[in-house]
Amino acid sequence: MLSHQDNERLVRVGPGTPMGTLMRAYWIPFLPSADLERDGTPVRVRLLGEDLVAFRDTQGRVGLVDHACPHRAAPMVFGRNEEGGLRCVYHGWKFAYDGSMLDTPAEPEGSLLRKHLKIPSYPCVERMGVVWTWMGPADREPPPLPDFEWNMVPAENRVLTFRIQECNWLQALEGEIDSAHAPVLHGRIDGQGEINGWIAARNLRPSFHCLTQPFGLSIASRRELDEHSAYWRVNQFLMPFFTLVPPQAKYSELSGHAWVPIDDENTLAIMFSYHPSQPMYPRSREVMENGHAGRETGHASVNAFEPDNPMQPFAKYRTRFRRDNGYRFDPELQRTAFFSGLPGLWVQDAACQSGVDRIVDRTKEHLGVTDTGIQKTRRLLLDHLKTLEASGTLPAGFDDAQTTMVRAVSITLTADTDWATACAEIMRAKPGQDFGYDLSDQPKSAPTTEAGA
Ligand code: FES
Ligand SMILES: [Fe+2]
Repeated sequence: MLSHQDNERLVRVGPGTPMGTLMRAYWIPFLPSADLERDGTPVRVRLLGEDLVAFRDTQGRVGLVDHACPHRAAPMVFGRNEEGGLRCVYHGWKFAYDGSMLDTPAEPEGSLLRKHLKIPSYPCVERMGVVWTWMGPADREPPPLPDFEWNMVPAENRVLTFRIQECNWLQALEGEIDSAHAPVLHGRIDGQGEINGWIAARNLRPSFHCLTQPFGLSIASRRELDEHSAYWRVNQFLMPFFTLVPPQAKYSELSGHAWVPIDDENTLAIMFSYHPSQPMYPRSREVMENGHAGRETGHASVNAFEPDNPMQPFAKYRTRFRRDNGYRFDPELQRTAFFSGLPGLWVQDAACQSGVDRIVDRTKEHLGVTDTGIQKTRRLLLDHLKTLEASGTLPAGFDDAQTTMVRAVSITLTADTDWATACAEIMRAKPGQDFGYDLSDQPKSAPTTEAGA
């Protein structure tokens, strides 16, 4: 459990909050490049509680500006995106991608407004189909864009999906670094006989081993296979809100998320799956993009969406599985097919992560030994907040693009092998190079994949 005060420190991300200040030191991914067309319709964005609008100008540059026009606060999402800038439809003031003002057509000739006024804006960069922004203070230079392997491999090696999740960012993040839930929540019971037998047949009791790293935390879970060998899954938490999950089976890939806070109560779940050295297996891509047998996999499929009106942030990424329809929980499905009764893999995660409230009261929880990684992650974040407040010092490595070049790992080792030593080299990301170990010995009883069906 956490004190109310520590919980508040972790979950609140708006301007001026401790966690909001920490997150604003980092580059934040927030849209697929393809969502922004030159002179195309602007897109409503909200990040860290700030209401914004993104657009691509005539020259292809991306602007991310305040949603409220600085004249009299008309919504900039209705703006006309034309001839090098975004023009407010109320009185026609026009702004460039960097926020500078280009035109005030209703003002007198010679008005100096244009020279003095800007619309608040944040710098954006693009890499391999993803738009990133940096929301740090205007008087500071942004660090280099971090190197993440998922954002460096060619498009054919990767599947990337976006969806809104209706809960605080930390609940979502904690769901993914917790590998004890996978064989339970994501289990299938069809054709498996008695439910007690189904539970007994699985090794549901991993032990957890955490290692603080320059990028964040390695969270290793160990399941004994027999007296000579153990199966290790090493998930990674990367500052401030990234997770990495290892491959699951021989024909598998790395996966993970950026859990980007839209505000305190909503998260943009950006999921990536990728193979470091070759195109995705066609069958993997097919089920991730289109779903499997009418159900959702780890990725939000093309069938998952029910877009909101365009004034709402990330309207396109609202899904059909929400709090207001109970995530389409189906008791019949629970009796016959899925342990959870929730229709699809990410839906199962989202329903449990979103909990009884969008911001759960962590003073009421009771953590077990399988929650070690979660506890350590909270502690790490709280320590970073403390240091930042005491001395203004940001986490080491935040401005080193290479810090994030890591992989998650799933490997069978002999019983007495030290996992941290054995995995040190294969945890390093090397774009274009294979996993560096044999994936064919993934045990059949391994936890259900986060990405596949
Ligand atoms: S409110 Fe935007 S130009 Fe007047
Ligand atoms: Fe899960």
